[in-house]
Amino acid sequence: MLTRLPALVDVHVHLREPGATHKEDWASGTAAALAGGITTVLAMPNTLPTINSVETLAAGLKQAAGKAHCDYGQYIGGAVGNAATAAAVAPLAAGLKLYLDQTYGDLKLDDMLDWLPHFAAWPQDWPLCVHAESKTMAAAILLAALHDRPVHICHVSLAEEIALIRAAKQAGLKVTCEVCPQHLFLCEDDILALGAGRAEVRPRLASKADREALWANLDVVDCFATDHAPHTLQEKDSATPPPGYPGLETMLPLLLNAASEGRLTLDDITARLHSNPRRIFRLPEQPETYVEVDLDSRYEIRAAEQHTRCGWTPFEGWQVNGRVVRVTLRGQTAYEEGRLLAAPGSGRPIRH
Ligand code: DOR
Ligand code: ZN
Ligand code: ZN
Repeated sequence: MLTRLPALVDVHVHLREPGATHKEDWASGTAAALAGGITTVLAMPNTLPTINSVETLAAGLKQAAGKAHCDYGQYIGGAVGNAATAAAVAPLAAGLKLYLDQTYGDLKLDDMLDWLPHFAAWPQDWPLCVHAESKTMAAAILLAALHDRPVHICHVSLAEEIALIRAAKQAGLKVTCEVCPQHLFLCEDDILALGAGRAEVRPRLASKADREALWANLDVVDCFATDHAPHTLQEKDSATPPPGYPGLETMLPLLLNAASEGRLTLDDITARLHSNPRRIFRLPEQPETYVEVDLDSRYEIRAAEQHTRCGWTPFEGWQVNGRVVRVTLRGQTAYEEGRLLAAPGSGRPIRH
């Protein structure tokens, strides 16, 4: 029997176009999204070049329009000196992304003085997301509070982070957050088996206690998101492995499997992949759009069956209960039983 879920959103993906389409592009990334039961992706700006201007945002959206198989949005990145420019094009952007800690790409804002113009200029009612870990996260929440504005914390991975977010929410601050599958299902004990290069990810895999703290505080987690960060197997196994895991095709099966084990409910999943993302990121309805899953279909996760171009998954060989069978986008079957049916360019932008 099939179970029907509503349109599902991944608010945090890296699709590598422009600049590194051998890892992923708008076509392969959105194909992977549909295969994973995701009907809208919001793409991060740490591309090559980075998306940080009117021109680069327009070029990125144009590439997406021609190739995307599912609906999409594109973030603009906060850089030194682009706060006014970014704010001016905010209506076309999924949101503003600020990189406040070191990760992949060139967008890190080293100096806290360079954060301030962004918190001041970006429209108060429009999504502002931060890569900010540990004490950097505390600083980002302080800046948001000083500006009385919402802030969305990407990929929470630590017990101390989720505890501070709970306290901030209790104090009435407008903080929302997401947690990624790698921090719910893996921890530092898995690094050896994964191999050091493949295990590289930001935020890093944390302790078992951190992982369990995320599960214990699921009520303060607003969204699940993949942080789909494809790098090829060759790159991951090289002397300088870039950080990041693919995730679009494994997030929903892993969450459904957790539901089958009684660790969360289908309503918990729907809230964090549909209702909350839609509200926080101010996303339009996707009419006649739904995801059909078979909760009793047990299968083995295999990179060879994925649509992502990166060619691997940290969950290789995992047995999961819960398979994405069919995805219907605006009344059309977009994906069915391993086959991509949506044409390139049939995805629509979430902003106009
Ligand atoms: O592991 C990561 N990879 N974390 C990030 O924050 C960026 C991402 C990437 O773009 O590869
Ligand atoms: Zn990040
Ligand atoms: Zn990311």
